[in-house]
Amino acid sequence: MTNAIHVEALTHSYTRADSRTLILDSVEMSVPSGQSVALIGRSGSGKSTLLNLISGLEPVKQGNVSINGQSLLNLNDHQRTRLRGRQIGFIYQAFNLIHTLSVKDNVALPLALSGVHSGTAYARVKQLMDAVGLAGREEDYPDRLSGGEQQRVAIARALVHEPALILADEPTGNLDANSGRQVMQLLRDLVQQQGSAMLLVTHSQEVARSADSALLLNNGKVEVVDTLALEQSAAW
Ligand SMILES: Nc1ncnc2c1ncn2[C@@H]1O[C@H](COP(=O)(O)OP(=O)(O)OP(=O)(O)O)[C@@H](O)[C@H]1O
Ligand SMILES: [Mg+2]
Repeated sequence: MTNAIHVEALTHSYTRADSRTLILDSVEMSVPSGQSVALIGRSGSGKSTLLNLISGLEPVKQGNVSINGQSLLNLNDHQRTRLRGRQIGFIYQAFNLIHTLSVKDNVALPLALSGVHSGTAYARVKQLMDAVGLAGREEDYPDRLSGGEQQRVAIARALVHEPALILADEPTGNLDANSGRQVMQLLRDLVQQQGSAMLLVTHSQEVARSADSALLLNNGKVEVVDTLALEQSAAW
């Protein structure tokens, strides 16, 4: 079976005020196709950094990342953007919707960027709006929606082009417990229906336990963990 994500010896550091901080120290990890994997670790441990490297938003300088068997190593910015546009759906903690575009055009964006005809794109948008329970809100603008509704739009946008891989960075971090639970359930159902793989950053034990497996990022290293054994750990 191929891996949706395969990371080898990935090292990354940031330079600030003349000092270098090592964030990822020869990280090895993978996410099998079609599986959901939770990524946990204390605040500042480098989870978002790892997601940005995997998505190609940030260039890999040392080590390697492969997405569905395709190595990012020899791709330029343009090629990485294309790969991301076709194969990855990204859900951010802060929704990241474009406020000058209607809900419909926010969801259609990944299709528009890969040149899909608008008639085809809007038909697909309609399916997704139904799936996330927002049928009829297509012409609204994001600032008219609640946090939970905005996150459902962001989920629709991440799934609209049927990517093989979903990267989600604390998708329920800005929601109250109840909306968070509903949004997670929705995300899980849609990802499963579509057969996509998902790497999901979370600080919630409940969310992490709903994934197929969990990875802990600690001191620059990633290891497979049993979330039940981490009950009282600082990882959350
Ligand atoms: N562009 C940058 N330049 C310098 N340092 C950065 C940059 N981005 C992140 N960092 C630092 O790298 C470390 C890891 O940050 P990152 O955002 O990956 O953590 P995180 O695990 O996602 O944390 P949280 O759970 O709070 O979201 C932090 O110390 C952060 O300050
Ligand atoms: Mg983060």
